Amino acid sequence: MTELKGGANDMRGHQSRNAQRENAMRLTEKDFKFICQFVYDNTGIVLNDSKREMLYRRLTRIIRERKLKSFSAYCQLLKDQPEHEKDFFINAITTNLTSFFRENHHFDFLSKEELPRIIENKKVLANGKKRLRIWSSASSTGEEPYSIAITLLNTMKAESSQWDMKILATDIDSDVLAKGKAGIYDIGRIEELPQKVKQDYFFQGCGKSSQSVKVNDNLKELITFKQLNLLHEWPMKGPFDVIFCRNVIIYFDKKTQQELFARYYEMLTPGGLLFLGHSENLGNYQQYFSNVGRTIFRKPY
Ligand SMILES: C[S@@+](CC[C@H](N)C(=O)[O-])C[C@H]1O[C@@H](n2cnc3c(N)ncnc32)[C@H](O)[C@@H]1O
Repeated sequence: MTELKGGANDMRGHQSRNAQRENAMRLTEKDFKFICQFVYDNTGIVLNDSKREMLYRRLTRIIRERKLKSFSAYCQLLKDQPEHEKDFFINAITTNLTSFFRENHHFDFLSKEELPRIIENKKVLANGKKRLRIWSSASSTGEEPYSIAITLLNTMKAESSQWDMKILATDIDSDVLAKGKAGIYDIGRIEELPQKVKQDYFFQGCGKSSQSVKVNDNLKELITFKQLNLLHEWPMKGPFDVIFCRNVIIYFDKKTQQELFARYYEMLTPGGLLFLGHSENLGNYQQYFSNVGRTIFRKPY
């Protein structure tokens, strides 16, 4: 007796193809370990078992885009063409959560305590201006450096023309940097900001773009966005008056954190400030700074 099309044989074939596909898309322990090591070596980010789900989801997307059939094939691609694939891979695995005026107490401290102190103490240089440098060292999509820029302009007001002020915004992820540079956000991202800040620093789009806002040129002119892996050499000279290093070292191990703190220390001017994220601390490096506010640390003069 001949089988009808779509009968038991076909069903078995279909099931085994499904099983093959499912097997191929299983993240084996060996591949998981390779990927974790690749991430650690290239970013300093420590991935553990709790990140397996997240890794699976994000990498499945890339594997499909690459039209590959398995995690193993993708691992092989990372081994064969690390330079070609690295940026794309890193962009996929970084966590970029941020918002305007996140941890607002830092911006309060900057405007009420630190900027008045800087305004009072900075000397005028040969170019007739006072120099101010701030570094947002894991700037993600730009909300952090733009919040710094708004705080500077609001605090300096008329005085701002006497200043040579610059904000450096860096991140390892080239996609988030492009977004920061463009300075275009969903309108919902600025919902909670005071009306005056919205009016002074953002334009609302019209027509198809009516749900987007764009930051104005006064903010953009203050900021330079650059790709920088914190683990690599830092090409800038500094020194910085203030460094924001918020919600990034949490992804690193203690050794990497301590190495970075030593480098941040060197990059700060005497009396300069280091801001960390809400769940971060300096560990053993605390002895070299004084704690002047919630997760705010000053390098001694
Ligand atoms: C959670 S976001 C923090 C954004 C912002 N600082 C804040 O607190 O809202 C962490 C950022 O760190 C960046 N990052 C991770 N590893 C990095 C590295 N090795 N060098 C530079 N940036 C890194 C990620 O790309 C991501 O944009």
